[in-house]
Amino acid sequence: MTDEISRRMALKSALLLPPVMNLLASPSVAQPMRAGGRTLVAYFSRTGNTRVIAGQIGRSRKADVFEIVPAAAYPEDYEETVSQAERERRSGYRPPLKSRVEDMAVYGTVFLGFPIWGMTAPAVIRSFLSSHDLSGRTLLPFITHGGYGIGQSLAVVTEHAAGARLAEAFVKQADQERQTLTEVSRWLAAAPAGE
Ligand SMILES: Cc1cc2nc3c(=O)[nH]c(=O)nc-3n(C[C@H](O)[C@H](O)[C@H](O)COP(=O)(O)O)c2cc1C
Repeated sequence: MTDEISRRMALKSALLLPPVMNLLASPSVAQPMRAGGRTLVAYFSRTGNTRVIAGQIGRSRKADVFEIVPAAAYPEDYEETVSQAERERRSGYRPPLKSRVEDMAVYGTVFLGFPIWGMTAPAVIRSFLSSHDLSGRTLLPFITHGGYGIGQSLAVVTEHAAGARLAEAFVKQADQERQTLTEVSRWLAAAPAGE
């Protein structure tokens, strides 16, 4: 009987040993993940206004730059894009992204840039934030808009980036595609017709 008990105990401790050793050998299992010291600039841009800012931040902070791209491209046509953006805003849709940041753990600081779409952040920003863990990181938004302000966008960022330390945002009014299209249409209407 005693032999049987000690045999079982020996078997039990042998079975327990490898996981215990693994735990000691791998600090990432034993300790919570720490954010690294690198800087990431993640941005979405349709007409380039936000991209210019992303580039400047990337160069001056020697940061990695990641463009947030939806798996299915938005229409070329401005009005179609406005309609699609409105549908996505109302339904809370999170469009799948073409790619994601594989190693978010190395970044301690994340600049996040986007244009205002329908008085809030575009749907891809919700997709980006909900598919990456930004907890413990410093998050610095940079936002461009066409003259109507940043609307609900910071509330969206706060809601979807749980645990991040939100710093003051950079906000800039920039050219509006609609305005450019209207001005060009006016000019074209008065321009000589082609042969
Ligand atoms: C689909 C769509 C919706 C927009 N909605 C707004 C808006 O609600 N308020 C606003 O001020 N500008 C709006 N704009 C204008 C953009 O926010 C502005 O032009 C921005 O700088 C574009 O940035 P980008 O060049 O990086 O794409 C909208 C533009 C698009 C394409």
